[in-house]
Amino acid sequence: MESLTIKAPAKINWMLDILGRREDGYHLLRMIMQKITLYDRITLGKSPRDSFTCQDMALENQANLAFKAWLNLKSELALKDCLAISLEKQIPTAAGLAGGSADAAAVLNGANQLLELNLSLEYLQKTALKLGADIPFCLLEGPALVEGIGEKITPLENIPPFDLVIANPGIQVSTPWAFKAYDKLPPQGHIDQLAFISALRLGDPHKIGALLENHLEQAVIPVHPQIAQLKAQMQNLGLSPLMSGSGASVFGLAPNEAAAIKAWEKLKADWPFVQKVKTI
Ligand code: C5P
Repeated sequence: MESLTIKAPAKINWMLDILGRREDGYHLLRMIMQKITLYDRITLGKSPRDSFTCQDMALENQANLAFKAWLNLKSELALKDCLAISLEKQIPTAAGLAGGSADAAAVLNGANQLLELNLSLEYLQKTALKLGADIPFCLLEGPALVEGIGEKITPLENIPPFDLVIANPGIQVSTPWAFKAYDKLPPQGHIDQLAFISALRLGDPHKIGALLENHLEQAVIPVHPQIAQLKAQMQNLGLSPLMSGSGASVFGLAPNEAAAIKAWEKLKADWPFVQKVKTI
């Protein structure tokens, strides 16, 4: 095999609870994360030299996480191989959807496959954590309870697919800024993750809708009131909305696919990025 194209799915956070802060400034989290049918595409080809291209010129640089993931792996394992990496971007950037982390994970999984490196998932997750806290989750398939700073991953079985509308108000939010803003707020009560997991397994969007919570909303929404507007509009359209990650994307959980399509048609008239997706 000389080349390989893989899909890199975005993620949402069904819940995001902040439990504390480590001495290095990283926050201890408890999250339920799941991938959705919104994808970037990564092509890896064996090549005489390393290169990185992207259809979005703003993202075509050596510092891109996807390229960094390859260069780090190559130097860690002292590999002689070179890869031409190309990224076709669909996931909005700095949007709370882990687009950059999804790309990096796809590069690591893809390089492992293409170059027949036989690296274990544990090895890839450990090396990926140095590049970004969401990448270990992105290396896996399926939903998971994610704890620590992102390294403790418990896959969740028996969760049915859900229909969502995902929208971004056209704002980029810096994750470090969002966590710093959170640190200035009074402490919040914790989220019952077990009740949440039971509701997901039951597959009842109304029950899940009542439990949706993301502790970063209180830090980010006061500065970006468009997120509250988007949530209110989704609510009026019969969706249960929550900001994903550090924002500014919002997902709206729909009672069924027909409701998701109806809401998507209305929302896309008002917001720059709106997609109807399913959880995977
Ligand atoms: O690891 P990642 O690059 O995704 O994180 C970006 C920034 O978000 C970190 O540098 C840190 O400021 C903040 N962060 C955090 N706690 C986490 C994950 C991220 O404080 N668990």
